[in-house]
Amino acid sequence: MATDKQKEPEKANVAPGEPRTEAEYIEAIDRLRRERRAVIMAHYYQRPEIQELADHIGDSLALARLAAKTDAEVIVLCGVHFMAETAKILCPGRTVLIPAPEAGCSLADSCPPEEFEAFIKEHPSHTVVSYVNTSAAVKALTDIVVTSGNARKIIESLPQDEKIIFGPDRNLGGYINSVTGRDMVLWPGACHVHDRFSLQGILDMKRENPGAKILVHPECRKPLQLIADMVGSTARLLEYAQFSDADTFIVVTESGILHEMRRLCPGKTLLAAPADDAECQCNQCEYMKLITLEKLYRCLRDMAPAVHVEPDLAEKAIRPIRRMLELS
Ligand code: 13P
Ligand code: SF4
Repeated sequence: MATDKQKEPEKANVAPGEPRTEAEYIEAIDRLRRERRAVIMAHYYQRPEIQELADHIGDSLALARLAAKTDAEVIVLCGVHFMAETAKILCPGRTVLIPAPEAGCSLADSCPPEEFEAFIKEHPSHTVVSYVNTSAAVKALTDIVVTSGNARKIIESLPQDEKIIFGPDRNLGGYINSVTGRDMVLWPGACHVHDRFSLQGILDMKRENPGAKILVHPECRKPLQLIADMVGSTARLLEYAQFSDADTFIVVTESGILHEMRRLCPGKTLLAAPADDAECQCNQCEYMKLITLEKLYRCLRDMAPAVHVEPDLAEKAIRPIRRMLELS
């Protein structure tokens, strides 16, 4: 259910025939998606109302896999820009729309391609493994793309003595390094949401709820990974909460996931972990929340904004993404 804070306001002055209320937007989006033969895909951090009307919701890996196999003529990606860009690279012949093209990602931004290229040159004979939260230009410099859902499996599939550059997330890289014991150098990037969860706040919550299981996304810092009962991608955290015998969970990732978790875990108690600043809503990704019903409606109505990736860049960036899909 949308909180009052998240809910979009009704529009006072709208052109005749244009939707005004949430119900009218949903009806119009439904009609347009059929007319356009479009499929709507949404990440688990999207606003509740967007998750509810999506044809598919998933983690980054699921969204990439869905994009790779869909036969829809139009893909509307309700997520951040790198997700839509990945879908476009995988489906160059289809129209890929993103309702809010300004929806960036602080983690992707923490890895400028020119600097990453220089880092790669400093470490010759290393295999370059990049998290999917990167620009197409960084993917084009990469040997294998990974997501949080398959990073461990893919790194473990590489020969034991292979030297690895892992970018851009230092927390995910550190986690994979600690569980695989591989020879890895890490790019020092981070997500501004996951890097800000409060260890003390989570320990306080655990003291008040001793039976609670702590679910942590690997983009969080190491001390949080160490106190976790489960470290995993959004899809894995959902699965764990659904099938665990425990009835209370402290959820240490972007709070949009709670919508799907509540649906999958009726009757269980789900506690959103606090960020280090109790006053802010720092456990929300403001980029993910840029996508609203109104923007989704306009995007389908106007068939814009569409994602464009230069063909020569797409050709380089698709190789490490294909490798990921083969290996996972
Ligand atoms: P997942 O692939 O686990 O859904 O993570 C995506 C993301 O952006 C996490 O911040
Ligand atoms: Fe990027 Fe962090 Fe937002 Fe995920 S939560 S999309 S890593 S900024």
